[in-house]
Amino acid sequence: MALEQQTDYGARLDLAGRGFVVLGTGAGIGGEVCRALTQAGARVLCVDQALAAAQRAADEVGGIAMAADITRRPDMEAVFARAQSEWGDDFQGVVDVVGVPVPGKLAETDDATYDRQFDLVLRHAWLTISIAGPMLAKTGSGSLIFIGSLGGLRYHPGVALYCTAKAALTMLVQAAADEFGPSGVRVNVVAPGRIRDSGVSRPSEDQWARISSATPLKRPGEPKEVAGAVLFLASDLSSYVTGETLVVDGGVRGMIATPAS
Ligand SMILES: NC(=O)c1ccc[n+]([C@@H]2O[C@H](COP(=O)([O-])OP(=O)(O)OC[C@H]3O[C@@H](n4cnc5c(N)ncnc54)[C@H](O)[C@@H]3O)[C@@H](O)[C@H]2O)c1
Repeated sequence: MALEQQTDYGARLDLAGRGFVVLGTGAGIGGEVCRALTQAGARVLCVDQALAAAQRAADEVGGIAMAADITRRPDMEAVFARAQSEWGDDFQGVVDVVGVPVPGKLAETDDATYDRQFDLVLRHAWLTISIAGPMLAKTGSGSLIFIGSLGGLRYHPGVALYCTAKAALTMLVQAAADEFGPSGVRVNVVAPGRIRDSGVSRPSEDQWARISSATPLKRPGEPKEVAGAVLFLASDLSSYVTGETLVVDGGVRGMIATPAS
């Protein structure tokens, strides 16, 4: 094949000129997603409920900081209006990182806790799709990426409603991929397994050792490994991928639990 006919894969990874909103930039995965997107040339609007957390992430990558409670519609309308006023048709994507687990057994969970869990995993995904989706659709392209969890594919004891809401996220994304596919907007999930330097639960070194031993790659993941999957889905490298859940778990999903010998 002549050189001029060959695909330039480096160019397909390039996000120069494109604006991305990152929701939940204060913890390890969100901050790393901002670094990954900006290293590929994107501009970012860093959003967190705590302005200081958003500002920290934005200052590091030369982005814009904004405080918002992403479970609230008026806040989400303001976030995506800001992205559109900053970038116009160059607003090309959203990475929604937020998904806080609220532990508890099903029979002991009250209505307020149920609502809170679904708000913290699902409501903001739906708001992103319903508010930002049509904005991107008008441009004829764009990528919506949601951080799910291995817990949405395999049940994790102690966080039943979190797993249930993450499972629903997979279906929401499949439906959105169908609704927005004709307009050129892609919608996908990245589902991490256990990731170090992130998350509300902080396992002890002993617990990390047990997590590692149950993982085919024999170690937990790192935020950069989740961000790498996000970068793939944000870029034209994944131009024929939509409605997909990309699992980043070191191989855990393929295992069955067996007693230690
Ligand atoms: N850390 C892990 O091991 C792991 C494993 C599987 C899945 N995940 C998923 O990865 C994602 C990131 O997890 P994490 O634990 O790093 O971060 P997180 O979801 O706990 O929080 C990320 C950021 O979101 C912000 N945030 C929380 N509620 C908000 C709200 N209502 N409005 C605006 N900002 C809000 C927090 O301040 C924080 O800075 C989540 O979706 C989580 O379910 C993490």
